[in-house]
Amino acid sequence: MDAISVIRTKRDRGRLADEQIDWIIDAYTRGEVADEQMSALAMAILLNGMDRAEIARWTAAMIKSGERMDFSALPLPTADKHSTGGVGDKITLPLAPLVAACGAAVPQLSGRGLGHTGGTLDKLESIPGWRALLSNDEMMDVLRNVGSVICAAGDGLAPADKKLYALRDVTGTVEAIPLIASSIMSKKIAEGTGSLVLDVKVGSGAFMKNLEDARELASTMVGLGTDHGVKTVALLTDMSTPLGLTAGNALEVRESVEVLAGGGPADVVELTLALAREMLDAAGVKDADPAKALADGSAMDHWRRMIIAQGGDPDAVLPVAREQHVVKAASTGVLTKLDAYAVGVSAWRLGAGRARKEDPVQAGAGIEMHAKPGDSVVAGQPLMTLHTDTPEKFDYALAALDGGVEIAAEGTAFEPNPIVLG
Ligand code: URA
Repeated sequence: MDAISVIRTKRDRGRLADEQIDWIIDAYTRGEVADEQMSALAMAILLNGMDRAEIARWTAAMIKSGERMDFSALPLPTADKHSTGGVGDKITLPLAPLVAACGAAVPQLSGRGLGHTGGTLDKLESIPGWRALLSNDEMMDVLRNVGSVICAAGDGLAPADKKLYALRDVTGTVEAIPLIASSIMSKKIAEGTGSLVLDVKVGSGAFMKNLEDARELASTMVGLGTDHGVKTVALLTDMSTPLGLTAGNALEVRESVEVLAGGGPADVVELTLALAREMLDAAGVKDADPAKALADGSAMDHWRRMIIAQGGDPDAVLPVAREQHVVKAASTGVLTKLDAYAVGVSAWRLGAGRARKEDPVQAGAGIEMHAKPGDSVVAGQPLMTLHTDTPEKFDYALAALDGGVEIAAEGTAFEPNPIVLG
């Protein structure tokens, strides 16, 4: 077998044979297929697609490239959640301890932000002392003792995806449904969770810009999970505007703690509860009331224990950026647009995200929003506060917001999108 014939098959709109898929994933993982060959194949897949059987074989080969974890010795059913990525999406932070407080174990392997979307691990690393890198044994201990763990996937889990995702990120080949579905599901199936809830984001701040593509991605992933014995369900949720009122690492931790304390923005609470109910249902946990676990402090108690178990101090003062800049409303009226992509890129330019995998992030950088679409605003009132340690970036970050904010005349009727779209 050779890489060129595999690339040619897909370039010429053919189906990849099982043997071609098995060979190329294995050879690429072992370093026998060059990055430029794999990126040519990824581009051919992006342009010409794959059928469901090809995607299933590709996913199975990625799972086989590394180890599989096994949580069957735990006394509780396991449930995990995966979001396809968005702006201000801090839901994993309150959700994992909340579901643990309700009686399921949550082995949450998470990622770092890249580009305009934030990453759960970057957010949690703004808590002094907190460690994302755990050995498999440490992960199991936290899960057993606390009920939830949020950590990085070890090097042994789906190594083919680690290489391929980094390559796709720099070759314009992220936004391909077969590649996104196989990337996410290979990690989740190898992780060994019993059930999985997918939060498939739709809108300007998401990889999937319209409902039709999001539905196709969701049903592909649900099919892959189900075929591998993982009870899998998906929600389609809105990402046309950021979730909550913050985008940025420490800013989002602060907002998540507000939710765990029984407060926080209504959209974050609504989505956290909707996903918690789906996870508990998929795990077969009956009679649990996640709203009660938020209100009575039991979710907060699990959060504190989880942070401490991973070396963090839940009472530590979170980092604050050195400089702030307030963006004011240009007119009086109704805020009809606060675009997720614009806010995500702006927060990224302020230092909340990274341009390359190895770049550091600023823990305090990001954007606080003071109004949501549908709110009435008065000319001159603060709409957003930009935070950064590198104030020379303010102009660059402000440029990203151009066209991302719209205020309509007073009295304009405006109905924000529902959070859960399907
Ligand atoms: N998240 C992943 O893990 N992989 C993708 O391809 C896209 C989002």
